[in-house]
Amino acid sequence: AGVITLDRGYKNTGSCESAITFLDGEKGILRYRGYAIEDLAEKADFLEVAYLLIFGELPNKEQLEKFHHDIKEESQVDEEVKKILDGFPKAAHPMGVLSSLTSALTAFNPSSVDVSSEEDMYNAIVKILGKFPVLAAWTLRKKKSLPLNYGDDSLGYVENLHKMMFEKPGKKYDVDPAVIEALDKLLILHADHEQNCSTSTVRMVGSSHAGLFASLSAGVSALWGPLHGGANQAVIEMLEGIKEDGGDTKKFMEKAKDKDDPFRLMGFGHRVYKNFDPRAKIIKKSADEVLGQLGVEDPVLEIAKGLEKEALEDDYFVKRKLYPNVDFYSGIIYRALGIPVEMFTVMFALGRLPGWIAQWREMRMKKEPIGRPRQIYVGENHREFTDLEKR
Ligand code: CMC
Repeated sequence: AGVITLDRGYKNTGSCESAITFLDGEKGILRYRGYAIEDLAEKADFLEVAYLLIFGELPNKEQLEKFHHDIKEESQVDEEVKKILDGFPKAAHPMGVLSSLTSALTAFNPSSVDVSSEEDMYNAIVKILGKFPVLAAWTLRKKKSLPLNYGDDSLGYVENLHKMMFEKPGKKYDVDPAVIEALDKLLILHADHEQNCSTSTVRMVGSSHAGLFASLSAGVSALWGPLHGGANQAVIEMLEGIKEDGGDTKKFMEKAKDKDDPFRLMGFGHRVYKNFDPRAKIIKKSADEVLGQLGVEDPVLEIAKGLEKEALEDDYFVKRKLYPNVDFYSGIIYRALGIPVEMFTVMFALGRLPGWIAQWREMRMKKEPIGRPRQIYVGENHREFTDLEKR
């Protein structure tokens, strides 16, 4: 009851109280559970960050080992899942396949839905942390016509993911440690970002008690869009487009500013950051390092830097406080790591998984009510019904 205020896109609506991620958009600050993103990206690994986000504290050695052990115990999926994957056309976008398979997991793990105790919740959480990377890797293997595989228990979480994605039959798997380090850092930077579109979706679906996997599947779908996680794919496609068009960045800047042109500068702007996205700062530096270490030269990196410089000096972007966001440089690193463009948003989903889980768990533990916004009705008043023959 009470007055309903209209807030399109929920720009000024707090949907919950949360103790997970702190974000100050004016100052460009991002912290997980109080720890600066810069420290976590530098000093922690992805699984430690996942534990921190979900359970609230950095794990000690035993806690981390147990967590990893429990995840490994769950890192296989039902054989029938292969048949479902087989039914998709090869050209299907990996995000659609991933969302479907995540939802399908519920059918094979019905006990994960009704989580009435903390223990039930924990079991559902380690299940999905074990199985989601398998599904993600398989979406790539399907595209590349590679045989479906499982990981290697002796490897770390991120290296194992990499192996599942890239292992080739008949060839010994080998990877440059710099690749795993860069991947680990990227996943950490994506791990949570408070009440963004996909996270709000996970909470919303979860608020009806639909179960963790169904909620995550919805989160994957929300992330897919180019205004959200899909921006990383859209950025590389845009940069390639600029390159192929002759590299005239000014022309594309003008297009982005033209209100009659739907084109936007992908990887620029953010709902909350009105200053540098701190993740973009780390990623830009990392892009330079990784490309250097791996000896990769990517002409679009120069185009990206040029575009960034121009935008930061341009009145239109300055006035609207539009800065590069996390997705502006991430695609360039993914590409240097050998990850195909269509998999970029899947990588984002793998990184965001712990955040989605943490937010879902917090919501269930706090016994949040079902999410159900109101509206301002602007339709017709009462009308008399006209029979079909008379219309
Ligand atoms: N290029 C050109 N103009 C832009 C851009 C852009 N990338 N972003 C915002 N604007 C303009 C927009 O046209 C509007 O202008 P005006 O005030 O004259 O109408 C003003 O800036 C404010 O934009 P908005 O669309 O009202 O802001 P929003 O908070 O609703 O949208 C956004 C945020 C991220 C969806 C938007 O900035 C955008 O579309 N950016 C490009 C896509 C992108 O990079 N998304 C990734 C976001 S970060 C990672 C993630 O969320 O997953």
